[in-house]
Amino acid sequence: MDTSKPINPSDLFSAKGLTVVITGGGSGIGLAFATSLAGSGAEKVYLLGRRVKNLEDAAKSINPDIVVPIQCDVTDPSSVDAAVKQIEKQSSHVDVLINNAGVLGPDHKGIDKAQSIQELQEIMKRDWSSWDTSFQTNTSAIVNVSAAFLHLLDEANKKRGWATGRKEVMERVEGAQYDVNDPRTSQIITVASIASFNRFVTAGLAYSATKAGAAMLGKALATLLAPFGIRSNVIAPGRFPSDMTAGDSGSFPVNQIPASRSGSYEDMASMILFLVGKSGAYHNGNVQVIDGGRLSMMPSTY
Ligand SMILES: NC(=O)c1ccc[n+]([C@@H]2O[C@H](COP(=O)([O-])OP(=O)(O)OC[C@H]3O[C@@H](n4cnc5c(N)ncnc54)[C@H](OP(=O)(O)O)[C@@H]3O)[C@@H](O)[C@H]2O)c1
Repeated sequence: MDTSKPINPSDLFSAKGLTVVITGGGSGIGLAFATSLAGSGAEKVYLLGRRVKNLEDAAKSINPDIVVPIQCDVTDPSSVDAAVKQIEKQSSHVDVLINNAGVLGPDHKGIDKAQSIQELQEIMKRDWSSWDTSFQTNTSAIVNVSAAFLHLLDEANKKRGWATGRKEVMERVEGAQYDVNDPRTSQIITVASIASFNRFVTAGLAYSATKAGAAMLGKALATLLAPFGIRSNVIAPGRFPSDMTAGDSGSFPVNQIPASRSGSYEDMASMILFLVGKSGAYHNGNVQVIDGGRLSMMPSTY
C-alpha cells in the first residue's frame, strides 16, 4: 500500500457522476438516499414507487434536473420493465441499483405478550393474506428488479473500461479510457433490516422472514454476479423515522438502543455515500448493520 498518497475524503465519499436507481425512493430512507446522492454530485437519481405525487414532490424538493420520478410497482414485472425502458431513454447505464422498497406485512403486535395459547394462535394467524404482499415486495421483487437492471449495470462497467461477460479475472479492456484512480464496478444495494437477524419479533413474523430473505438474496447476488463484475451489498437499518415507523424519533433506554435514539438523515446519508463512493469500492457481499447498537441488546444471529 502506498501510504504516501494524499487522502481526499470529499473524493472518496462522493456520488459524483453516478446514475442511481432507488426503488421506494419517494419517502423515508429512500428519500434520504436520494437527497444525499443528489447533493453529492450524482448525475441522475431515478425514484421508483407507486405513488406518483409522492415521487414528484420528492424530485421537486431535491433537484428536478437530477431526480426523476418514475411510477413503478416492484411486484409487477411488466411495470418494472416499463420503468427500465423509461430510464433507457435518458441514461445509457446504471451505476447503482438500490432495492429499497418495502412494506410491513401482517401486524403481529402483542405477540410477545400473549397470555394464553389461544391468544398466541389468534395473533399468529392474523392477516394471513398479507404474507404474500410482504414476500413479493420485500423479497421476490429483489430478484426480478435486479434481473431487469443487469444489462444497465453491465453498461456502467463497460463505461469504466471493464470487460463484459463471464470472466475469471476482473480486467480493463485494452485501449479503454478510464480513471485509473477509480476501481469501482457497478453495484446492487439491498435494504434489509435488523429484523433479518433479530429473533425477537418486533415488526411482525412476516416482516422478519421477508427481511431475512432480503439479506440472504443480497449476499447470494454477490456470489452469483461476481464473475460478471457486479457487486452486491446489504444495508440492515435499525429504527429510522419514516411512514413505516410512524415518524418515530423519540428517545430509547440503552437496553433497547445503546445510542438512545432513532437513526438520523445524516446516519443514512453517510452510509450511502460510503457504499457508492470510491470509499466502498472493495465492499462486496457485505451487510452493513446501522442501528445504534440495537441488535446487541436482542437475541440475534448475524
Ligand atoms: N424505517 C425503519 O426503521 C426501517 C428499518 C429497517 C428497514 N427498513 C426498510 O427500509 C426500506 C424503506 O422503508 P422506510 O422506512 O423508508 O418506509 P417508507 O417511507 O414506508 O418507504 C417504503 C417505500 O417503499 C415503496 N413501496 C412499497 N411497496 C412498493 C411497491 N410494490 N412498488 C414500489 N414501491 C413500493 C413506498 O412507495 P409507494 O407506496 O409509493 O409505492 C415507499 O416509498 C424498506 O425496505 C424497509 O423495510 C426501514
